[in-house]
Amino acid sequence: MKGALVIFLTLISLVSFVKCYKGEKYETLRKFLHAESLNRSNNYITDEDSAHQYSPVYIGPQEGFKAANKIIALPGEAKGVKFDQYSGYVTVDPTAGRALFYYFSESENPSSKPLVLWLNQGRGCSSLGVGAMSGQGPFRVSKDNKTLWHNEYAWNKVANILYLESPAGAGFSYLNTDFYIAEEAYAGFFVPELAQLIPHNNKITNQTVINLKGIAMGNSIVDTETQSKGLYDFLWSHSLISDEIYHGLVSNCTCNKYAEQAVKAIGNINRYSIYAPVCSSTSNAPWIYGEDPRADDYALSHLNNPEVQKSLHANATGIGLMGYCRFINWTDSPATVLPTIRELMAGGINVWMYSGDTNSFIPVTATRYAIKKLGIAMNAPWQPWYSQGEVAGYVVEYENLTFVTLKGAGLFAPSYKPARSLAMFSSFLEGKLPSSS
Ligand SMILES: *[C@@H]1O[C@H](CO)[C@@H](O)[C@H](O)[C@H]1NC(C)=O
Ligand SMILES: *[C@@H]1O[C@H](CO)[C@@H](O)[C@H](O)[C@H]1NC(C)=O
Ligand SMILES: *[C@@H]1O[C@H](CO)[C@@H](O)[C@H](O)[C@H]1NC(C)=O
Ligand SMILES: *[C@@H]1O[C@H](CO)[C@@H](O)[C@H](O)[C@H]1NC(C)=O
Ligand SMILES: *[C@@H]1O[C@H](CO)[C@@H](O)[C@H](O)[C@H]1NC(C)=O
Ligand SMILES: *[C@@H]1O[C@H](CO)[C@@H](O)[C@H](O)[C@H]1NC(C)=O
Ligand SMILES: *[C@@H]1O[C@H](CO)[C@@H](O)[C@H](O)[C@H]1NC(C)=O
Repeated sequence: MKGALVIFLTLISLVSFVKCYKGEKYETLRKFLHAESLNRSNNYITDEDSAHQYSPVYIGPQEGFKAANKIIALPGEAKGVKFDQYSGYVTVDPTAGRALFYYFSESENPSSKPLVLWLNQGRGCSSLGVGAMSGQGPFRVSKDNKTLWHNEYAWNKVANILYLESPAGAGFSYLNTDFYIAEEAYAGFFVPELAQLIPHNNKITNQTVINLKGIAMGNSIVDTETQSKGLYDFLWSHSLISDEIYHGLVSNCTCNKYAEQAVKAIGNINRYSIYAPVCSSTSNAPWIYGEDPRADDYALSHLNNPEVQKSLHANATGIGLMGYCRFINWTDSPATVLPTIRELMAGGINVWMYSGDTNSFIPVTATRYAIKKLGIAMNAPWQPWYSQGEVAGYVVEYENLTFVTLKGAGLFAPSYKPARSLAMFSSFLEGKLPSSS
């Protein structure tokens, strides 16, 4: 498994994204509105291509790897931890000196649970800082940046979760285990391609190296055409732009003018979750969600503590994982991954597309248009699903694809709607629709 994962995952480049929305610092609306004007290739991978792409991969010595990477205890960790955790580096290319950092939180009964690879956003900071330590991981960091508290909605209640800072596989024996990939946002453009390589390479090597069962894509960009259309509709229907700007964007979407007007019209709102306050120093508005919006600041501060890094087997200096946000100028992403998604579905891989319905970057409307473009048969129509006695969102079941919304969640759904996110994730792993009552 390790070898195979490594190649798949070296295709991935990660950039950053801060959960606490501080304004349109880097991302002008135009970048989003005109994604289609970038030079995008349709690099759909065929069997023939992947036959050329496949090459045996470096597999380092496995002996003692697991024991050496076991985390004894994290500084500030609460008592009563009933699962094992591992972290460290996996050498990918010894000649180039390339190693990747991972954090692995097993579940309490690891052998009975599937293995899930979690990838944050594709442009996100750190899967560990943003995904694990302030999202769906077993711990969250307190305001003091030191003590950890148990996340009762941690995803390792239902699966063994592998978080990768930069992608790679680890030398753990999960060879015959059901394997899933889950991701958020921009990772939508590369996760289907990554997933596609798994059956392709299984075919080339004549063995099921990785038993990929499903992928879950959260607020994911998958198609530039439907992304633009869905974006304009979301902004208009959520009363963020005027009729004039909307019509300008729709009828003349190559004109910069309307995009600039849209940015002005929207103002400085939290675009990850439009009803949440921004968390800039000028905002005194109370945070509407249960959690402090600066949770990922605490997490990163914690992770930057040399004691913590030592317990994680991370080198105390010079590691990428602890920093925020590099902007990777990723121009060779495909214009659409819908053909890839179709191929995965045809291969019997269970595809889930879920959407926090308050995210205005990659909005739920874009996801709905993208699914419509797939043109697949519907098995079960739109219906509400429930968590904690409330409508938690809506679900539509298609042939080999399930669409789920998370009501009131933006991007980073596990941080802001943890119970709903765990309920949705558990249903995904069980391969059944979320609770209808
Ligand atoms: C876009 O692609 C065209 C044709 O392949 C090329 O000539 C042009 O330089 C590219 N532009 C950028 C900005 O990369
Ligand atoms: C926690 O870390 C944040 C971000 O680095 C910092 O702004 C804050 O002052 C720290 N809090 C404490 C109590 O040290
Ligand atoms: C896989 O099987 C095919 C057909 O039996 C064979 O030609 C090929 O060499 C095998 N590949 C490997 C990596 O064993
Ligand atoms: C569309 O954009 C072009 C280029 O900026 C401009 O010349 C034209 O007047 C615009 N049309 C409308 C209907 O706004
Ligand atoms: C971590 O540090 C050790 C020795 O200090 C070094 O051998 C190793 O290559 C470093 N690993 C990474 C990924 O930087
Ligand atoms: C990204 O790359 C393109 C083409 O190489 C360049 O025109 C553009 O300025 C770059 N953008 C950023 C933000 O670096
Ligand atoms: C769904 O998966 C089955 C295999 O499990 C396959 O036969 C069928 O063609 C797939 N349907 C679609 C629409 O991909």
